[in-house]
Amino acid sequence: MPFQLPELPYAKDALAPVMSAETLEFHHGKHHKAYVTKTNELIDGEQGLSGASLLQVVRKAKESGNAKLFNNSAQLWNHSFFWQCLAPAQGQQPEGKLAKLIEDAFGNPQALLDKLQEEAVNHFSNGWAWLVLDRGSLRVTSLHDADTPFVHDGMVPLFTLDVWEHAYYIDYRNERPRFASSVLSNIVNWDFVAGNLDGQGFERANQGERARSPELTS
Ligand code: FE2
Repeated sequence: MPFQLPELPYAKDALAPVMSAETLEFHHGKHHKAYVTKTNELIDGEQGLSGASLLQVVRKAKESGNAKLFNNSAQLWNHSFFWQCLAPAQGQQPEGKLAKLIEDAFGNPQALLDKLQEEAVNHFSNGWAWLVLDRGSLRVTSLHDADTPFVHDGMVPLFTLDVWEHAYYIDYRNERPRFASSVLSNIVNWDFVAGNLDGQGFERANQGERARSPELTS
């Protein structure tokens, strides 16, 4: 079965005004969808990828140096993860074990948000700002273009912010700093971030016939 465009976990207008319904119509309905379509086209007929999960496709594309397939399949996964990192603004804050880890690594939640903001704003050109778990500690970093944590050691994904221009141009024009601060201050899904401390964040954006067979995911 081909890979699918995952449904958004909220209504298209649920993140407004931070992220408008129009942005979601384009970013999810056109950009993310295009990555799904292209990935399916590229794996059609590829040796050894029949029935592979999305994680397997991304890893095998990386290993074999198939840049087109890597870029499209990694973007399919990155966006599937990204939508889950967001939630309607309800004054949410990190709690429990996550709050403790944030305190240990950054001092307080605002210091973490400042660090993510800095990483997002200073990342040159297209890419993704990430909060990852690295050997038990939180770390902020960023990756270029379609690059994704699960092809790197020491990067268990907890949260990401898309800083490709297509993520903010409709609502914020060229103002990436205003986009980043607006998202980070208002619509982070801290429950999802906390859930990813179990190290299974990779699987939460995975799909495909083998996605539910952990022994087959590597
Ligand atoms: Fe994007």
